[in-house]
Amino acid sequence: MLVNANELLRKASKEGYAIPAYNINNMEWIKYILEACQADKSPVILAVTLGTIKYFGGYKVVFNVVNSLIKSLNITVPVVLHLDHAHNFNECKMAIDSGFTSVMFDGSSLDFETNVKITNEVIEYAKAHNVSVEAELGSLAGEGHTDLQEAQWFVSQTNVDFLAPSIGNRHGFYRGEVKLDFDLLGAICKAVKVPLVLHGASFLDENKIKTAIFCGVAKININTDLQYSWSLKVKEYLKTNPDVYDPRLIISSGEEAIKNRVRYNNNLFGSKNHEN
Ligand code: 13P
Repeated sequence: MLVNANELLRKASKEGYAIPAYNINNMEWIKYILEACQADKSPVILAVTLGTIKYFGGYKVVFNVVNSLIKSLNITVPVVLHLDHAHNFNECKMAIDSGFTSVMFDGSSLDFETNVKITNEVIEYAKAHNVSVEAELGSLAGEGHTDLQEAQWFVSQTNVDFLAPSIGNRHGFYRGEVKLDFDLLGAICKAVKVPLVLHGASFLDENKIKTAIFCGVAKININTDLQYSWSLKVKEYLKTNPDVYDPRLIISSGEEAIKNRVRYNNNLFGSKNHEN
């Protein structure tokens, strides 16, 4: 069932777990993630970047594939189809018009006033279509953390559904020691009173994930983890089966790796057995 993220995140916040947001890359990714989450009875957010939309051939193609697989695989856990890191109103509108149930407007590179203004335009359009909205404040490129007062002001000016702050987290593999500012995260959570999102969570150690959830994170984003784990298995498979050329065999040689990582993360985030 496709739903927006609001109810899921509110419940997760209240009960102390987080909903996983897995980036999808192709049709197989969607299938494997849905099957693993169904097996775990875990709600799931399928996150789609603009790069992936281009790769698929359009917003509507992504929606149709997700929607068809939910039906043909008999998926009964709640599924959110979420646009990840949109840069303007139009990208959000196209996703909403195509059936996405959640969008992220990432105005973190804009000045504060422009970020508030466009976030509000997105929210107005999204609300009219029962779609949830995530905003970002502070850069995830690792330069500088989100300002506490700004976060409070931003949420009071926008009423955004959930917020992605920058606390030292970043996308991809971390270089050197991972330093996340959990004091800031906790303070932002208290000040803004909306569920928080942790981007760049691949391969963070269990203590950090648990502390982040304790400090108010209710949506955790994972991409690199599944890509890397899949690629290791596929490389191994190609090495031991150099004569194989059927793409279905090659791609699906990483199926178990993806499913194992999804089920590991569902367990760690506590979303397992929270289908209702
Ligand atoms: P990772 O690739 O570091 O897991 O980050 C995913 C993410 O935050 C998507 O928005």
